[in-house]
Amino acid sequence: MNHQELKERVLAYPRWYHSFQLDSETKITGWAEQNQAYPPTAFVEQGFQYYHLPEDWRNKSVLDIGGWDGAISFEMERRGSSNVILVNPYSLEDLDLPIQGKGTRDRFERLYREKGYPFEEIHSGGARLLIQWFHSRVQLLHASVYDLPARLDTAFDLVLCLGLLYHLRDPLRGLEGVSRLTKERLIVETRCMPEDDPLAFVPRSYCEFLAGDEGQNWWLFNYHAIETMLRVSGFSHIERKSAWRDRCVYHAYK
Ligand SMILES: C[S@@+](CC[C@H](N)C(=O)[O-])C[C@H]1O[C@@H](n2cnc3c(N)ncnc32)[C@H](O)[C@@H]1O
Repeated sequence: MNHQELKERVLAYPRWYHSFQLDSETKITGWAEQNQAYPPTAFVEQGFQYYHLPEDWRNKSVLDIGGWDGAISFEMERRGSSNVILVNPYSLEDLDLPIQGKGTRDRFERLYREKGYPFEEIHSGGARLLIQWFHSRVQLLHASVYDLPARLDTAFDLVLCLGLLYHLRDPLRGLEGVSRLTKERLIVETRCMPEDDPLAFVPRSYCEFLAGDEGQNWWLFNYHAIETMLRVSGFSHIERKSAWRDRCVYHAYK
């Protein structure tokens, strides 16, 4: 495939979540930016400041779990990472979302058909094209977070769990496995109770069972619950780095 054909395939890809500057005149604006689902600082123009990514990650490794189109994987490669693995589930069945129940599963299938979304490599097809486009060494792995400790035989200097925890029916089991795979630092970005919720900052752990609002989310945590889950999963130093509406970013260290 030549450069122009690859560009056409990238531009024709039916479902972008992340935004990318392809070249000086071409930008893909993904769903997250179009819908202002994250603060403006979460996107490429503002250097992903929202996440407080380490500036220099030369000769260090990264595991990006649920990294979708890979914006942060590519950014960490740009920041010097020697080894980036981008993980996404392969198919709708592999997602741990509350979409398997009667009704919601049908609704998702209808949506996928209407919009022409891929049923295989559901979240990795875009990243696969961009790996070629950026001549990237990012490696794709199809797996659920729960399977990673068995699938990977090494721990990573940095693990990313961005936009993932609230999609997991068992976030603690997920985090315990993630902890085993973290050598130095974990960055968690998650939905949480908004700051004006009376339970958001109380010094007790609260977690609302969303039971699949929008067919996608299981849980809404308060800050204490997020910090406690990180602590019991094996992280000893926990820092809240950002908060915006009902989302926040934590860095956790072993
Ligand atoms: C809201 S998106 C977040 C994408 C990206 N990390 C970000 O923050 O912009 C949720 C991601 O979680 C992934 N995901 C959902 N269930 C998962 C599971 N059980 N194991 C690993 N990833 C999962 C999806 O494939 C998707 O890439």
